[in-house]
Amino acid sequence: MQGFEFNTVRRIVNGGGSALQLAEECQRLGVARPLLVTDPGLVAIGLVGPVARALEDDGLAPVLFDQVREDPPEATVLAAAECGRRAEVDGVIAVGGGSSMDVAKVVAVLLGGHQPLAELYGVGNVAGARLPLVLVPTTAGTGSEVTPVAVITTGETTKAGVSSPVLLPDVAVLDADLTLGLPPVVTAMTGVDAMVHAIEAYTSRHQKNPLSDNLARQALVLLSRNIRIAVHDGNNREAREAMLLGACLAGQAFANAPVAAVHALAYPLGGHYHLPHGLTNSLVLPSVLEFNAPAACELYAELAELVTGEPVSGGAEARTGVLIDALRTLIDDVALPPTLEKAGVDEGDLEMLAEDAMLQQRLLVNNPRDVAYDDALAIYRAAYRGAS
Ligand SMILES: NC(=O)c1ccc[n+]([C@@H]2O[C@H](COP(=O)([O-])OP(=O)(O)OC[C@H]3O[C@@H](n4cnc5c(N)ncnc54)[C@H](O)[C@@H]3O)[C@@H](O)[C@H]2O)c1
Ligand SMILES: [Fe+2]
Repeated sequence: MQGFEFNTVRRIVNGGGSALQLAEECQRLGVARPLLVTDPGLVAIGLVGPVARALEDDGLAPVLFDQVREDPPEATVLAAAECGRRAEVDGVIAVGGGSSMDVAKVVAVLLGGHQPLAELYGVGNVAGARLPLVLVPTTAGTGSEVTPVAVITTGETTKAGVSSPVLLPDVAVLDADLTLGLPPVVTAMTGVDAMVHAIEAYTSRHQKNPLSDNLARQALVLLSRNIRIAVHDGNNREAREAMLLGACLAGQAFANAPVAAVHALAYPLGGHYHLPHGLTNSLVLPSVLEFNAPAACELYAELAELVTGEPVSGGAEARTGVLIDALRTLIDDVALPPTLEKAGVDEGDLEMLAEDAMLQQRLLVNNPRDVAYDDALAIYRAAYRGAS
């Protein structure tokens, strides 16, 4: 076996109502005045008030920053940091999806260290310490609560990542009660994103290892058995718990065995069309798997019965076909658009998208099969038309 490294968070707390016990976590970390980072939608639906009140009832003085925008731009990060600096906070909590958690991660570094934001981008560029950090996801998707990455929007169509073990929080708190009201379409998109994390981690070219494999497999079982229930019966607590845990396990997997061509081809769609991250992954997933099959069908075959939930027979190619069909059916069942055409992408843009995808070498190097420009274009064309 090849040597490997595996890093993850020090502490995960999982359970209904755990978001109402954040004071305990804060006290353990010596935090009395946390910045509570979230988005206005979550405040409006009443998700954040009880969390803030519970902190106050336990003697803490949370400071609210509730202006996180989806796909957060740098301005949001800087505004949140300024809010925290003025209020002299001594820790950072995020309650929200990947957008709020990513802002909180970077803000904890900006407030606890001495580097400006521009210096943080890239891999391993965070030098200093950070403030104590507690992440509470309200979507079951990005796995950001257990990844060393924060994704920030830096331009009209561009995002940049900060990747450093310093961004792993002190605690990830999984409280599925917070996800009960997640709208069906967000549940579907974020859930497929989490499934893609598991699938791409399992076939990641360089850093896949027995720990990430196990996490990816377990995640895929939880996610594929529960995504339809979570989408169509959002109040089903068991399904929500399974989705949240599945997304977290998939996050731990891809934090160590990085994602590849699905994400590389998804990013340009997000940049140019402002489509949500999970949807863009879903749109290219089947076509990328078909392209990868010659190189990865042994591994895809192992995943087939995890997704279908029943024994799948036949050779590796046949079982890979079953996996891809099952994913297409699942995407249809959770009511996501099946093709780029249906999602409103212009066929005339496919060349430009393929050029942009080529810029994602950081991700493409993890793909089980090399992807050149012509390959990317062929994948987008297949994703445009859908299954033949
Ligand atoms: N750090 C990482 O490892 C990582 C990985 C993948 C993606 N990302 C980033 O994460 C972001 C996407 O995050 P996301 O998909 O979790 O969504 P999000 O945080 O952008 O939220 C999407 C929408 O869902 C709403 N919402 C969230 N939770 C809800 C709930 N429980 N009930 C009702 N509405 C709710 C929000 O108010 C928001 O309007 C992107 O910026 C992406 O680039 C980060
Ligand atoms: Fe993702």
